Amino acid sequence: MDDQPPLTPLETKLKHLLTQRHTNSTLRTLTLTSPSQADFSSNDFLSLSTNSSLKSSFLQELHRADLPLGSGGSRLLDGNSHYAERLERDVASFHGAEAGLLFTSGFDANAGFFACVPQRGDVVVFDALVHASVHDGMRLSRSAKTIPFEHNSVADLRRVLTSLVEGEELGAGRAGREGKAHVFVAVEAVYSMDGDVAPLREIVDTVEDVLGDGKGGGGGYVVVDEAHATGVLGPGGRGLVCALGLERRVFARLHTFGKALAGNGAIILTSPTLRTYLLNYARPLIYTTSLPFSSLALIRTSYAFLRSPPHAPLAAHLHALIQTLFHLLTSPARSPAFTSQLRLPSTCPQSPIFSIQLQDPKALASFLQKREMMVRAVVPPTVPEGTQRVRVCLHAGNTVEDVRRLVGAMGEWCEEQARLADRAKDGGGRELEEGERKEEVVLARL
Ligand SMILES: Cc1ncc(COP(=O)(O)O)c(C=O)c1O
Repeated sequence: MDDQPPLTPLETKLKHLLTQRHTNSTLRTLTLTSPSQADFSSNDFLSLSTNSSLKSSFLQELHRADLPLGSGGSRLLDGNSHYAERLERDVASFHGAEAGLLFTSGFDANAGFFACVPQRGDVVVFDALVHASVHDGMRLSRSAKTIPFEHNSVADLRRVLTSLVEGEELGAGRAGREGKAHVFVAVEAVYSMDGDVAPLREIVDTVEDVLGDGKGGGGGYVVVDEAHATGVLGPGGRGLVCALGLERRVFARLHTFGKALAGNGAIILTSPTLRTYLLNYARPLIYTTSLPFSSLALIRTSYAFLRSPPHAPLAAHLHALIQTLFHLLTSPARSPAFTSQLRLPSTCPQSPIFSIQLQDPKALASFLQKREMMVRAVVPPTVPEGTQRVRVCLHAGNTVEDVRRLVGAMGEWCEEQARLADRAKDGGGRELEEGERKEEVVLARL
């Protein structure tokens, strides 16, 4: 419109950056999910967001506890309550931890932890695929040196740790005064974009083998982000650390409530000393309004659900669907068009997240969305260059029929792509329809 004010120089620059993203097909936009679409995308793994019995328990809890709606401020000022403190103790005890500290989100918890816990001269060794929030925390840290290791590679972790021990970094300038540097090893239980599970026992063994467990000064401190394992892995959804009995051998764990638990917020599980330290130094906790009562009540209700009999069949159904999807995707009956275009997981994932890599995930996602199946394309910079994919997440609310329909539609798309490619090779022969022309554009990028 003519009467729009001209762009400022800053807006012109920002618009240029957005145009670049658009050109590279990496522009992020908001979308809406229709309730009629089968959910193969959200992190609501147990489908608790739409669980009517959880909803009515939550409403009862709101009435039962009858606390003020707003928390009233930072946890350190007026935002604390007996309700929050009891919830922390109960959640910590559910996961077999000594203490816990609530945060308003998992992002804040990771960013706050990694910004303030590593001390001057300490080192954070992190899996190359850890979440953005860990990176932001490390960036905010004034003190730590940070080193990546190859994703899920215990051998590479050993290499990095050994080179630290053999090099100058861990002791230089510190011995005698503060002792050796501490080394934090940051991993996820389940990686959010690939759905693979960390070889956590081997990671903990390696850290202890190379660095010791921290009790003799210096040492290694394993920090596990259980965001995608909460509610899904381990006994009663307690997570990977509990599944492997490593509660006493990891330094801290993050559980988030926004994924399988249908709420929001997060908790760091750790020792009472670290809890008090975080209360004093973690800025995203100190300088923010604490979780309102409604969030706390939902977290309490979701944990009660995890302890209740209906959790087990939901989790079992979800794990059966994972097997079903893997078998359907990798069935020998799949056509060459299917197997040549899609890079599938080579072993059955232990988590409900499947990464299906292909040249143009946006085209496949849009094809499936038009058929009432919600999957999303994930492209760089969210994932590394060359690993663009369709991310399929299974849910307890999906049926075997939904999964069959999904794989059937993926097969149809692959066949169609193969036909278009053949036709393009033959030079065509007839005018293409509008829809086919669009697909041709996609193929031209392959
Ligand atoms: C591995 C991981 N850690 C932390 C977070 C952040 O958690 P929240 O959504 O509670 O901020 C996410 C969310 O995407 C995640 O995937």
